[in-house]
Amino acid sequence: MLVVTGTGTGVGKTMVTAAIAALAKERGQRVAVLKPAQTGVLPEEPGDLAEVRRFAGDLTARELRRYPDPLSPEAAARRSGIEPVTPAEAAKVASELDAEHDLVLIEGAGGLLVRFDPGGSTLADLAWSLGSLVLVVAEAGLGTLNATALTAEVATSRGLNVAGVIIGSWPSDPGLAELSNVADLPVAAGAPLLGALPAGLGELTREEFLVQARDGLSPWFGGEFDPECFAGSTSAQT
Ligand SMILES: Nc1ncnc2c1ncn2[C@@H]1O[C@H](COP(=O)(O)OP(=O)(O)OP(=O)(O)O)[C@@H](O)[C@H]1O
Ligand SMILES: [Mg+2]
Repeated sequence: MLVVTGTGTGVGKTMVTAAIAALAKERGQRVAVLKPAQTGVLPEEPGDLAEVRRFAGDLTARELRRYPDPLSPEAAARRSGIEPVTPAEAAKVASELDAEHDLVLIEGAGGLLVRFDPGGSTLADLAWSLGSLVLVVAEAGLGTLNATALTAEVATSRGLNVAGVIIGSWPSDPGLAELSNVADLPVAAGAPLLGALPAGLGELTREEFLVQARDGLSPWFGGEFDPECFAGSTSAQT
């Protein structure tokens, strides 16, 4: 089981989830992806799980609640009148999925401390109740070191283990901040750099996506990403 969080919304959690799922599936693993709360999507629209399936192919996908407003799950639940999702409910479903799959990926909404319900439950509580490792998806550029350090420090203070940090979208023409952050992100996270997905994955076919997932994710996920090489190739540009 792996909880995929990030330094914020739109940082590439869904892309990273799809990449990890694609590699696991390629190795013959049974993969499930759980999105406890999907916000900002109407009932007939594709959500994050549809995006994961578009790139990783068929897998078990469970969404527990969907709210139309693009807000935190707590705020979106309040506005819609739809019941909030609780960590206990999400943990129960995750455990059920875990019994029948080799890998269960859980994608949060936004960052680690975004609230699910008025009681203040967050993805951190869900990860804690599952005893699951946490993966932090981070942006490449300026500002990411602070957001990554905040996320990792809170995770650690809540008794969670951060498996590593992954850059959700590595630009084709990185600037000084991006290049410099390659060495500093794992320090900020207090955990290894487990990958960097290139920008522009959105238009790829499933086969092309799989190649990029392999290149961009560490052997920990069955990929070939080597942080030393990546840092070496980027430091040559600084
Ligand atoms: N490596 C990438 N290549 C191409 N597009 C990307 C990449 N990473 C992210 N994007 C795009 O940026 C947007 C945000 O990415 P994504 O949906 O993965 O973020 P998220 O962290 O899952 O956001 P949310 O909090 O809404 O779930 C999406 O439109 C996605 O297609
Ligand atoms: Mg997402």
